[in-house]
Amino acid sequence: MAAVTKTVTKLPAPVTYPDPRGDPELRKEVAAYLGLARGLRCNPSQVLVTGGFSGALGLAIRGLQLGRMGAWIEDPGFPLTRTALGLAGMAVTAVPVDAEGLDVAAGVRSAPGAKLAVVTPGQQAPLGMTMSLPRRLALLAWARRSDAWIIEDDYLSELQLKGRAAPALASLDDEGRVLHIGSFSKTISPALRLGFMVVPPELSRRFGELAACMAPAPAAAVQRAVAEFLREGHYIRHLRRMKRLYAARRATLLRCLGEVASDSIKVQATAGLAVMILLPEFASDVDVALRALQFCLAPAPLSPWYMQPPRQQGLLLGVTNLNERRLPADCRRLLELAR
Ligand SMILES: Cc1ncc(COP(=O)(O)O)c(C=O)c1O
Repeated sequence: MAAVTKTVTKLPAPVTYPDPRGDPELRKEVAAYLGLARGLRCNPSQVLVTGGFSGALGLAIRGLQLGRMGAWIEDPGFPLTRTALGLAGMAVTAVPVDAEGLDVAAGVRSAPGAKLAVVTPGQQAPLGMTMSLPRRLALLAWARRSDAWIIEDDYLSELQLKGRAAPALASLDDEGRVLHIGSFSKTISPALRLGFMVVPPELSRRFGELAACMAPAPAAAVQRAVAEFLREGHYIRHLRRMKRLYAARRATLLRCLGEVASDSIKVQATAGLAVMILLPEFASDVDVALRALQFCLAPAPLSPWYMQPPRQQGLLLGVTNLNERRLPADCRRLLELAR
């Protein structure tokens, strides 16, 4: 991220335990940011600062006390979510996604008794589509009817490279069924290991106790620095700058791929902060990704994101840290490996 220069104010070192729910300033800033940028009105008392998305997911799984109940996940979907729910002993059902996002009717057909759905409505991971309004309403209606919970994984927040990001699913939730999780991993850096979760007001007390006993918030100094970054308006400016930069890099990548792609390899633009190339059925994306490592290229294979066959073979090419000078040669090399 771009450097920000400013005068550092010296604060006295705190001598007590920090609030296990997170730094009050950061929780206040996050609540204000979410109201402005994600259409989600919440009180800072509903916000918990966590160790990224995974820290929040662990807290949510424990706090919802769902035991061995059923959970829907998106297919394809984030492999770590699937593993986490499995490790917690939940019965995981893969629900297909289509152009409108998670197919709620398919979820009801295959696992009608599920008590949890984990979704990426802003930009589906990894395919990139935004969940449509009818699907959002259907999912919320299902949760209400079934006394079930929804975890919204909003890992890209406003980093929507085409147009404006849709408001959070939690902004439509009148019944207190959605736990909204955000992360600073993509918007600032994964090295921070910082994220947050907004829980419905009735759950704030239980989650506060859980954080105090089992999962206190990450290092206070990091939280305070990020709170200041938000308070002084750097975060919003940084996101705007990154959106422009990543959109330009994606356009360059698409142009380079277009120059070397062949009929057997299809290039798709919409995939969050990645460009996706689809490989023929007989290819192994895992194998291509492994061989690419020898050339210092690190595409992510697509097939491990699928639970049910047929698993689409493809590669996800991140656009955030491209070396534009080497790009034409890298694209040629990658497509040679993929053929
Ligand atoms: C779907 C999805 N959710 C969440 C995250 C971020 O997780 P964390 O905040 O734990 O780094 C990622 C990172 O790649 C992701 O792909």
